[in-house]
Amino acid sequence: MRLQDKVAIITGGANGIGKETALLFAKNGAKLVISDFDEEAGLAALQEIRNLGTEAEFVKVNVSNLYDVQQMVDAAVERFSRIDVLINNAGITRDGFLVKMDPTQWDQVVAVNLTGVFYCTQAVAKVMMDQGQGVILNAASVVGLYGNIGQTNYSATKSGVIGMTKTWAKELGPKGIRVNAVAPGFIMTGMTGKVPDKVLDSMKEKTPLRRLGQPADIANAYLFLASDEASFVNGAVLSVDGGLTF
Ligand code: NAI
Repeated sequence: MRLQDKVAIITGGANGIGKETALLFAKNGAKLVISDFDEEAGLAALQEIRNLGTEAEFVKVNVSNLYDVQQMVDAAVERFSRIDVLINNAGITRDGFLVKMDPTQWDQVVAVNLTGVFYCTQAVAKVMMDQGQGVILNAASVVGLYGNIGQTNYSATKSGVIGMTKTWAKELGPKGIRVNAVAPGFIMTGMTGKVPDKVLDSMKEKTPLRRLGQPADIANAYLFLASDEASFVNGAVLSVDGGLTF
């Protein structure tokens, strides 16, 4: 029970890493608000979380819509009166080589992965500043550290998330709010389901631990960073990638 009675918002909590993290947080005593674009999967995830005996809400949100984001924050405060943890997990890919990348592919990824993180953090930070405490965790990526062929848009947003993490750690640290990022390697979710097997096999070969990651590998990192065990960790980017560098 490492998060007993903490209130956590997890964006993109309906699937993949977000859902796995929500279930792990629930098992550790947290109360949850999961938000997602995907209402059907979100309501199914909500049921699984409630089946654990956890107090939880689902809010349908597009994180790149400022109005939706404020509704999400208001719903959390109305239901639980506080917000202890925000995980900016919602993210998308729209891959393509630089010279073929459509401006729409660029705009969509920036809107969700970068602007969405800014909107959610700004709205939640105001609540956390009034409380004098909180934890904000951002989904970065190894791609934001090292780049990746076909991911100009995605790598730009994930590098941007690292820049925002370090900036907010400095701005919000004096207010009692810790801000950190996790940089996952290749994790088996719907997102990597679109990647050809040949590419995944080659990623496995390049990973010293010789396997791809599971959502639980990332959920465990978020659990540590959200808990009081990480009370002196601020502005960090924790790589959880089996030692992959490329
Ligand atoms: P996923 O595709 O399984 O889940 C992402 C969730 O975000 C989905 O439920 C989706 O509906 C939701 N979402 C997408 N756009 C949204 C929006 N505008 N508003 C609200 N919700 C939205 O992806 P996965 O793999 O679980 O990824 C989670 C995070 O981890 C993402 O930020 C991703 O970039 C990052 N990540 C994932 C890696 C991987 O290998 N799977 C590697 C590195 C980072």
